[in-house]
Parts: sequence; structure tokens; C-alpha cells
Amino acid sequence: MRVNPASSGIESFLRQFELESEAGTAALGCEIARHLAAGDTVTLSGPLGSGKTVLARAVVRTFLAREEVPSPTFTLVQTYETQNFLISHVDLYRVKAESELRELGLDEALDRGVLIIEWPDRMGTQLPPDRLDLMFEAADGEHRLVKLVGRGSWAQRLKTMRLGGAS
Ligand SMILES: Nc1ncnc2c1ncn2[C@@H]1O[C@H](COP(=O)(O)OP(=O)(O)OP(=O)(O)O)[C@@H](O)[C@H]1O
Ligand SMILES: [Mg+2]
Repeated sequence: MRVNPASSGIESFLRQFELESEAGTAALGCEIARHLAAGDTVTLSGPLGSGKTVLARAVVRTFLAREEVPSPTFTLVQTYETQNFLISHVDLYRVKAESELRELGLDEALDRGVLIIEWPDRMGTQLPPDRLDLMFEAADGEHRLVKLVGRGSWAQRLKTMRLGGAS
């Protein structure tokens, strides 16, 4: 489904589907990983415990199978050097001020590779316009509803993604 191409000035594309288990979320992470290139931004939104870190972990492990992938809740940024690019996994939940954001050096991180950002709302308008946004909603038990919005170059990539039971 095409969303608001005129008002935003940049093409965007929406898909949504249900994740039935944690394994489904991990599979989505693997599929996203197949489409990643240096300079990409992926944002992960949704309430505490909705599966953002589970998805980011699956992305990292697609490149580095045995890597420990802790939540960046306290470190704010965890980086992973893969053969292709650096992955910076960021959790902005605790960021309160713009000065704290600047100290994280996310621009340089993006120059060196891929950004995966939990709690991207903390960045306000500073997010790159070309990006993949994921929004998780917890349903019953392990069920999650996930919405994906591909913006700019991600609109086309999202169209070609293989998503389980997707609309
Ligand atoms: N379908 C699912 N997808 C992902 N995680 C699931 C799913 N069902 C259950 N879970 C469980 O929910 C929890 C998700 O935790 P996770 O750390 O990924 O959340 P989060 O969104 O990163 O939270 P936070 O905002 O605190 O960082 C895990 O304990 C995981 O086992
Ligand atoms: Mg998390």
C-alpha cells in the first residue's frame, strides 16, 4: 500500500502482518538483513518488551552468527564489525537532551555502515528521510502486530521483501 507520496515528497510504502512468535520476529530480522547496505537506517518503535531488541539481534546474527548481542539499554550504542559494514545498534530510551544525542556520533556511525535505532522518537526530525521504520504492537502472548514503512529507497526494497503471511 502506497502512503502519502505527495505530502511527504518522498515515496513510502506500508506493509503490516502478524508475528506469531519470537521466531517469527527473528525471521523478519533475517529478511531485513538480506536487504541492508552501508548507509541504511532501520528504526524500531513499540512499547517496552515488544520485540525491538529481538529483531536487532537477529539482524546482527545474520552476519555474525555466534555474536553476543546485548540490549544497548545502558551503553546506548553497541557496534558490530561485519565483513560488509559496521552495524550500530542504538537504544535512545534514556536520551533526554539533544546534546546527549550529539555525543553518540550517529552521523559518523551512519557513514561507516548501518544504524538500527530503538526509540527513534527521541531523534525528532533528525532521522534520515530514507529509512525503514518498524512499529511493533504487542497482542496476546507471543503475538505481535508489526507495521513496516519503507521510505525513499526502502519503499522498493520493502515491496520485494518476503514476509510471512504479509499483506
Ligand atoms: N513475537 C515476539 N517477538 C519478539 N519478542 C517476543 C515475541 N513474543 C514474546 N517475545 C518476548 O518479548 C520480549 C521482547 O524483548 P525485547 O528486549 O526484544 O523488547 P524491546 O522492544 O527491545 O524492549 P525495550 O524497549 O525495553 O528495549 C522477549 O523477552 C521475548 O522473548
Ligand atoms: Mg530493546
